[in-house]
Amino acid sequence: MPATPTAPFRITLLPGDGIGPEIIAVAVAVLKQVGQQQNLQFDFAEALIGGAAIDATGSPLPEATLTACRQSDAVLLASIGGYKWDTLPRSQRPETGLLGLRSGLGLFANLRPAVILPQLLSASSLKPEVVEGVDIMVVRELTGGIYFGQPRGIFETEDGQQRGVNTMAYTTGEIDRIGRVAYETARKRQGRLCSVDKANVLEVSQLWRDRITALHAEYSDVDLSHLYVDNAAMQLVRQPKQFDTIVTGNLFGDILSDAAAMLTGSIGMLPSASLGESGPGVFEPVHGSAPDIAGQDKANPLAQVLSAAMMLRYGLSLPAAADRLEQAVLTVLDQGYRTGDIMSDGMTAVGCEGMGQALEKALSAS
Ligand code: IPM
Ligand code: MG
Repeated sequence: MPATPTAPFRITLLPGDGIGPEIIAVAVAVLKQVGQQQNLQFDFAEALIGGAAIDATGSPLPEATLTACRQSDAVLLASIGGYKWDTLPRSQRPETGLLGLRSGLGLFANLRPAVILPQLLSASSLKPEVVEGVDIMVVRELTGGIYFGQPRGIFETEDGQQRGVNTMAYTTGEIDRIGRVAYETARKRQGRLCSVDKANVLEVSQLWRDRITALHAEYSDVDLSHLYVDNAAMQLVRQPKQFDTIVTGNLFGDILSDAAAMLTGSIGMLPSASLGESGPGVFEPVHGSAPDIAGQDKANPLAQVLSAAMMLRYGLSLPAAADRLEQAVLTVLDQGYRTGDIMSDGMTAVGCEGMGQALEKALSAS
């Protein structure tokens, strides 16, 4: 994993689209506050990505943005995408910018924790006894698999039809490096790793399973199990507490991390970290840009704030500062502040800015 950066910490901010600018503003405010409290210097610089970048430059990932990210110690990303850009050719879509950022920075390991907070038990659509105590880490491979495999495209067939093609491919090297991150992650948690594949049907999954199994020799203290992806999806909603750490490929990880996220009640609560072999990581909420509520002060900024905490912990090796931010989130929830997505009876409804103010108050009291 990346070498430990030293102060002043250079942070590239990528507000992106939709609710992105509102939620990242909250994260920056609380980061500044924690910085002052802990005597840490953060240098923030904003860059363009997604639809905002398309409008300004024609490209969803301008070269200047990639360069700025490469030269920083960590990247805090909000969200990208919106109706306005949905009909553009694929090369000009906001999503293409995000995928280019991941591959451009070599961010092959995506950590997506799904932790159910006691304060939000009733926000889950599952029964409290099913989700109480859930604490799952999804380790998703992020720069390979069907998202990047060649050939890809929509081709003409000899009989005049069109044929859409994508390729799910993994090399042993790609599987081993994500496997190691997953074993190391499981070791720091409860020591249980479940690898998810479709080895009963796909050769790429057979190789995945063989390599993850072979690597187990180096991590024999970790308890390893395997599940097919369809069964894993079922088990996640049936009995989520059986999971500690899950490792899986890009597409299965995309799907399962949304399901795991929703166990916790709102995808608006969940952060993620994307890390490479070296260089800066990207820290972003699991949720998207929510264009339907953008600019209305309705968004939940907590996933963005928790992503900033992951940036402090995993990107900048500042665990005390990360603890402070995470504690502030727990405090405002204890105090009953709720945005619309996690609102329940008897709680105090706040908007995005109101939640930010509550966080700042909690931090100054800490
Ligand atoms: C995610 C998102 C992205 C993905 C999209 C926006 C390209 O769903 O981060 O999970 O599929 O990886
Ligand atoms: Mg997704």
